[in-house]
Amino acid sequence: MADLKPHLKGVLRPDFQWGYATAAAQIEGAWNADGRGESIWDKLGHTPGKIKDSSTADDACRSYDFYKEDVALMKSYGVRAYRFSLSWSRIIPLGGKDDPVNPKGIEFYNSLINELLANGITPFVTLFHWDIPQALEDRYGGMLNLEKYTPDFLRYARVCFESFGDRVKNWITYNEPGVYSLAGYAAGVHAPGRSSNRELNEEGDSSTEPFIVSHTELVSHAHCVKMYREEFKPTQKGTIMITLHGNYSEPWDAEDPLDIEAAERAREFEIAWFADPIYKTGDYPASMRAQLGDRLPRFTEEESKLLLGSSDFYGMNTYTTFYVKHKKTPPELTDHLGNVEKLENNSKGVSRGTESDTYWLRTCPWGYRKLLNWVWNRYHVPIFMTENGTTAKGEHLDTPPADPLNDTHRIEFFNGYLNALASAVKEDGVDIRSYFAWTFTDNWEWAAGYTDRFGVTWIDYKSPERKRYPKRSAGVIREHFEHYIAKE
Ligand code: NOJ
Repeated sequence: MADLKPHLKGVLRPDFQWGYATAAAQIEGAWNADGRGESIWDKLGHTPGKIKDSSTADDACRSYDFYKEDVALMKSYGVRAYRFSLSWSRIIPLGGKDDPVNPKGIEFYNSLINELLANGITPFVTLFHWDIPQALEDRYGGMLNLEKYTPDFLRYARVCFESFGDRVKNWITYNEPGVYSLAGYAAGVHAPGRSSNRELNEEGDSSTEPFIVSHTELVSHAHCVKMYREEFKPTQKGTIMITLHGNYSEPWDAEDPLDIEAAERAREFEIAWFADPIYKTGDYPASMRAQLGDRLPRFTEEESKLLLGSSDFYGMNTYTTFYVKHKKTPPELTDHLGNVEKLENNSKGVSRGTESDTYWLRTCPWGYRKLLNWVWNRYHVPIFMTENGTTAKGEHLDTPPADPLNDTHRIEFFNGYLNALASAVKEDGVDIRSYFAWTFTDNWEWAAGYTDRFGVTWIDYKSPERKRYPKRSAGVIREHFEHYIAKE
């Protein structure tokens, strides 16, 4: 049941936005319907051995077909807003600046947006949630090529602003640029599947490519925001931001200055990597330059200027916390964490939280509150929570309803995190303006396939229509926001 704190009633602003977040590649299906082009995730999904349960996202949750039912279900959950992403290759199948636009793709997103608005749900739209058109990867190596990629991304963004910007007032350029580059170019387990590990990937260099790709994301983000602000904002009057990933890093030994330093360094490698250039200095953190030297690209003076202030708000995705211990050996070439070890327990043997069904994710509400404070104190930019949620042990079983619908682990997670959020607003003075839970329905969790269920709605993947069953957590989240949001 919802654990509501009476002393925190009404602490969230009356215009606080809440709802669920999704991504096109994880839910839509219809991967080659109505003129849609191939994305790098279609390619990876169709390559044997790359996805844990050998599944593809060809059909996923079939949200392309059942978007009206989904909007109705979301409405019944009481949401005010919905965050979803656009599939670039549905809109421009080959992706490039001179390639044709697919009218059917535009039509689909127009229908979805109109359906949301007709039901009083505010759209928050992400332009890029990891699914670059495969054609651009084939043509010039995608984001490894800043010069060629940027005009293509800008043209795609322009088509979106022109087609939907009369109704969409909340734009997100990139979703988790850091996870895109680390999982895709350092670990090599996400698309496009590149790394230094030759047992896993034929090509790639984990010591350089993640930094090059991230640089491309940052620079193209900045150009996109400039374009929006100059050409669209004056008439469309929307806002634009970027969403960054970031879990919290807590020292393994709270008394050891080296662990305290290591935890701060880990936060900088994970979060300030993207956030400092945008919200603080126009450049990467000194700790990264010190360790990476010339492997970390440099911004031109013009790019720095363009980046600083290039996001109206801080878009935050976060899930968990790790204990962080310093390493005594020099950093390896493939290190991306700041030369630290990430651990489950601290020096006193205290665990970072209850396990979920996902190896990296444990419930840690106190770490979440610390993270909110760290971001707020470092950047002083209002925070939009754009993702937060969990899987629950045992839920991946194929046999549905009865038990999975009573998702106590997920309910405890949301109780903890939503109370931490309300406390951070009321007691720590952090400015938080939205909360999108991840996620609306179970969906295709990238390389983990359908095994990781993050939804507040159970999906029966065996039924042709991917039948949806609400879990109890959906009602609990609603109770929280009814309690915490101030009445106008
Ligand atoms: C963040 C990503 O944006 C989303 O696509 C993913 O499914 C969730 N984390 C859960 O891992």
